[in-house]
Amino acid sequence: MSRLDSAIRRLQAQKLSLEWAVSAIGDRSGNAIELGLGNGRTFDHLRSLMPDRPFYVFDRQVAAHPDCIPAKDRIFLGDFRETLVQARDQLGPTVLLAHLDIGTGEKQTSIALAAEIAPLVDALLADGAVVVSDQPVELPRWKDAPLPDGISPGRIHLYRIAAT
Ligand SMILES: C[S@@+](CC[C@H](N)C(=O)[O-])C[C@H]1O[C@@H](n2cnc3c(N)ncnc32)[C@H](O)[C@@H]1O
Repeated sequence: MSRLDSAIRRLQAQKLSLEWAVSAIGDRSGNAIELGLGNGRTFDHLRSLMPDRPFYVFDRQVAAHPDCIPAKDRIFLGDFRETLVQARDQLGPTVLLAHLDIGTGEKQTSIALAAEIAPLVDALLADGAVVVSDQPVELPRWKDAPLPDGISPGRIHLYRIAAT
């Protein structure tokens, strides 16, 4: 597969997965979060799908397209390891949808980062929440959810959060 084909499939998997996640939480009330604002591409898509849901983003910097910059009070700016702790104090376990898009391109580093921050994300998740993650995560209450048709295993990871 060419790198172009691979990039297209990755973006298609991301789009289908985010759409699955929004549909899975339906109209339950709760917050959404995204780790990794980047250039704001997935933030922009998610906010178009759930315009009325409070949606917080995390990144160490704001470098998004000018049209895709969240309101100041919806940005946790800094290292995930610190801002997720702040978010726990501010939001509590109110998050119904979490998108982890944290990859740096260095696979082992990204997997290690996901393993380190996943318990901090977990502390924010309400029972029945859904997680879309670019990295695999193993935590007791994160249960694998089936991938939407057309996505190859391993390309993206979907979880439902079991009740405690
Ligand atoms: C793959 S990009 C996100 C792409 C974005 N979702 C989009 O669609 O444009 C990953 C982002 O994670 C951020 N990031 C990586 N490690 C981080 C850390 N430890 N703390 C805070 N931000 C981090 C990077 O700054 C980068 O913007």
